[in-house]
Amino acid sequence: MEDKLFSVKDKVAIVTGGLGQIGKNIAEELYHRDAKVAIFTRHLSEERAESIFPSAHFSRERMAFYAVDVNQKITIETALDQIYAKWNTAPDILVNNAGIDTQPSAPPEVSGPFENFPEEVFREVVDVNLVGTFLMTQAVGARMVKENKKGSIINIGSIYGMLSPIQDIYAYKKERTGIPFIKPVAYSAAKSGVYNLTRYCATYWGKTGIRVNTLTPAGVWRDTQDETFIKNFTEHMPMGRMSRENEYNGAVIFLASEASSFMTGSNLVIDGGWTAW
Ligand SMILES: NC(=O)c1ccc[n+]([C@@H]2O[C@H](COP(=O)([O-])OP(=O)(O)OC[C@H]3O[C@@H](n4cnc5c(N)ncnc54)[C@H](O)[C@@H]3O)[C@@H](O)[C@H]2O)c1
Repeated sequence: MEDKLFSVKDKVAIVTGGLGQIGKNIAEELYHRDAKVAIFTRHLSEERAESIFPSAHFSRERMAFYAVDVNQKITIETALDQIYAKWNTAPDILVNNAGIDTQPSAPPEVSGPFENFPEEVFREVVDVNLVGTFLMTQAVGARMVKENKKGSIINIGSIYGMLSPIQDIYAYKKERTGIPFIKPVAYSAAKSGVYNLTRYCATYWGKTGIRVNTLTPAGVWRDTQDETFIKNFTEHMPMGRMSRENEYNGAVIFLASEASSFMTGSNLVIDGGWTAW
């Protein structure tokens, strides 16, 4: 039996940052469920696209790659025109996944105390995570409205946008190097803005049938992460582990499909219990 409730078959879905860790998993899941997948990536390299999504397994009829900087309107509009030319429709699904964050390996000048945190770095992080989400939502939403689409827009938030980071997790950096790592304010501030951008757009487009929701992930395991970081982080995680990179796929399919048809302006938290303490 075809699962109509969770179907994304034939839907045109954009995933920004779709070659990144979470984005590539979301793009793959949408593809395997018969959606037409458009990957927006800032630096498009054919080799990288081919190595992550080999054309032998991911037909270029249903998967396409576009060089899009979510902060550059012109690149967004050009890609949306190309999508229209390819699939003859406006997008049905937008996953605003592109983002930047400061890693514990970052140099002290961008990971130091709040009192000295550089304005230009704050602006850059807000630009990608919040302004980029705004620009993508504006451009794609306008095309959904024009074609009377009952589309679904999924904004990727973060536990650090719902709550402040726990700075103790990063204290090991100072013990080891003498230089403190302070998880910066910029990412938290930018991601928190995404929640009310979501609510605003959800109510603004409520009667059109375009739904806008946030999905909140928690820390994803990477093989480059420091063992002490993982130990400290998972001590605060009720489920006692980091997430796997594909553990958001189910939530995206739910939000993208009819299964969530009465859900808008909401926040789906997939965080191993982080926000439950
Ligand atoms: N990994 C985590 O632990 C975690 C936790 C909570 C939330 N998130 C959020 O999930 C999303 C994906 O994170 P990830 O861990 O896969 O990160 P990632 O760095 O692996 O992927 C992010 C992608 O966004 C792209 N990108 C950055 N700036 C861009 C721009 N201006 N235009 C277009 N693309 C741009 C990057 O090239 C990259 O491919 C992000 O929004 C992130 O904030 C991640």
